[in-house]
Amino acid sequence: MDSNSLTFSALCPPTLQQWKRIFQRARVENWKVSHWNYFLLMSKLSYANAIVCSQTTNGQEDYIGILIFVQPPAISVSYVGMYLVTEAYQGQGIGGKMWQMMKQHTDSGRTMALNAPEEMTKKYRAVDYPIAGETFHKIHGSVLQLQRALALFDTKSSTFFQVRRIAEKDAIAPVAKYDEEIVHFDRSQFWEQFFPLADGKVLIDGGGSVIAFGALFKTMVENVTRIGPVYADDIGKAIELLRELVCDMKETEYCITVPNNDFGNHMKDFLILKAECSLRPPLYRSYSRSFDYNFDWSKIFALSGHFAAPLL
Ligand SMILES: CC(C)(COP(=O)(O)OP(=O)(O)OC[C@H]1O[C@@H](n2cnc3c(N)ncnc32)[C@H](O)[C@@H]1OP(=O)(O)O)[C@@H](O)C(=O)NCCC(=O)NCCS
Repeated sequence: MDSNSLTFSALCPPTLQQWKRIFQRARVENWKVSHWNYFLLMSKLSYANAIVCSQTTNGQEDYIGILIFVQPPAISVSYVGMYLVTEAYQGQGIGGKMWQMMKQHTDSGRTMALNAPEEMTKKYRAVDYPIAGETFHKIHGSVLQLQRALALFDTKSSTFFQVRRIAEKDAIAPVAKYDEEIVHFDRSQFWEQFFPLADGKVLIDGGGSVIAFGALFKTMVENVTRIGPVYADDIGKAIELLRELVCDMKETEYCITVPNNDFGNHMKDFLILKAECSLRPPLYRSYSRSFDYNFDWSKIFALSGHFAAPLL
C-alpha cells in the first residue's frame, strides 16, 4: 500500500454526501449487524461525527476506514459507535491513526465509552478505556418461534392498556418524558428523529400514563430486524409490549441486546427458554474514567441498540 495515497479527515459532522459514501461502503463490506447502525446513516444526527480514511483511485474517493463517534448535547459522554478498517488494510496503523484523530476531536470534559466484544475489550481496557462497565447479552432468534412463544405466554397482567403507534410528535413527547425518567437525561432530539423511521409502539394505561414503549428497526442485514428499545414498568409489561411489536413483523429473524442483570435476565430467560433463540458472544462496555450515572435498570429490558442513543 502506498500510504501517501491515503487521506485522513475529521467529518464533524459529515455532510449528506459523506454520509452517503459511508453508507455505500457499509453495503459493499457487508459489515455485521452488531457493528452497524442503519438508523444513524438514515438520520444523520447533527451530533454524530466521523473520522474517515479515504483512498482516491482514478479520481474516485473511497473510504477504507470509518470511525463514528457521537457527542450528544444532553450527557457528557463521547460514544464510539463504529470502528472499522477494510480487511485488506488492517494491521497497517490506519485504525490507530483514526483513533488518535478521534481523541483530538473529543471534548476533554466528556467520558469516552464504547461496547465491544471480548477480544477488542481487552485491548481497549489496556489503553484508553480502563474502567469496566456493564455486560450485555446479544440474542438472535426466529420471529416465528418468538410469535408462538408470545401467543402462549400468560403475563397475568391485570392492567388495562391501550397500544399506540409512535410516529407523530404528539405521541413522541410522552415517550421521551418516560424515557427521561428512566435514563435521567434528555434524549428527545434522538427520539424525534428515530420514531418516524422506526416501527414504534407505546402501551398506555387507563390513566393515560406510559407503561412501556419500544420499537423495531431495520438492520443492514436483509431479513433481520432489531428489537429495541424495550422499556417497561416491569417484565410483564415488557412481554406484552414485545407481543404487540412482533405480531405483524415481516422479517424472519430478529436480534436484541439485553442487559446482563436481574431485569434483563428475565427477558433473556424468556427468549432462551420459551422462544428457543440463541446467544451470541456478549458485549462489554468500557469507559475512559469512572462514570456516574443513574439509569433505572429495572425498566430496561432491551437496549435501543442505536449508538446515536448513547449507552442505552
Ligand atoms: C479494530 C480495527 C478497526 C483496527 O484497525 P487497524 O487499522 O487494523 O488497526 P492498527 O493497525 O492501527 O492496530 C494495530 C493493533 O492495535 C489494535 N488497536 C487498534 N485500535 C486500538 C485501540 N483503540 N485500542 C487498543 N488497541 C487498538 C489493533 O487491534 C491491532 O492489534 P493486533 O496487533 O493485536 O492485531 C480493525 O482491525 C477492524 O476493522 N477490525 C474488524 C472490526 C472490529 O472488530 N472493530 C472493532 C469493534 S469494537
